[in-house]
Amino acid sequence: PASPIIAPSILAADFSRLGEEARAVEAAGADWLHIDVMDGHFVPNITLGPDIVKALKPHVKIPFDVHLMIAPVDPYIEAFAQAGADIISVHPESGPHLNRTLKLIRQMGCKAGVVFNPSTSPSVIEWMMDEIDLILVMSINPGFGGQKFMRSQLAKIEKLREMIDATGRDIPLEVDGGVTPETAPLCLQAGATALVAGTAVFKGGPSAYAANIAALRGG
Ligand code: DX5
Ligand code: ZN
Repeated sequence: PASPIIAPSILAADFSRLGEEARAVEAAGADWLHIDVMDGHFVPNITLGPDIVKALKPHVKIPFDVHLMIAPVDPYIEAFAQAGADIISVHPESGPHLNRTLKLIRQMGCKAGVVFNPSTSPSVIEWMMDEIDLILVMSINPGFGGQKFMRSQLAKIEKLREMIDATGRDIPLEVDGGVTPETAPLCLQAGATALVAGTAVFKGGPSAYAANIAALRGG
């Protein structure tokens, strides 16, 4: 299989030097930059908003993979699109009308992603596949980095792989949470094509990023 897309999560970066950190992971071989947006309401943590995304944008060329953990989400889609998001992913639980939210993301010129919490069933997108450009499976409960990978989610990745294959479209299947050189192969075997990693990329500081990213690709 092709080398997976690696999307370092800046949640694990040094927040006092975000621009440098983004440039460092890009130089180390990252494909996308994963940006975790949390509101202290949808998830029990607060991170950053569109102004930070906008400030980061000129620092790197790689696509911004923006993971919104905020509710309600619709009022903020435009701001993140204008700030430079390339992909915007939303949780079905973050608004009353997933179809409307996905259409709004595409109208704003971004790719539209759907994120699955560990308890969320693949069936929520059964009638929505045409509206989706990316699928993100959480292998932890969202809110914090550094948590343990939930193997219970591997069967869900397999199920979503089948659903994607049935469309005939090349929809990236991304996994987020506890992804390490040990758990990455499990995700890829189950059909994932993109891996988010915070701790596993940023541990050891900038001099370790290239080796950390290579390790996630399989060495
Ligand atoms: C958690 C975030 C993840 C997190 C992953 O809610 O969505 O992107 O940063 O961190 P690690 O890789 O440390 O589990
Ligand atoms: Zn994330």
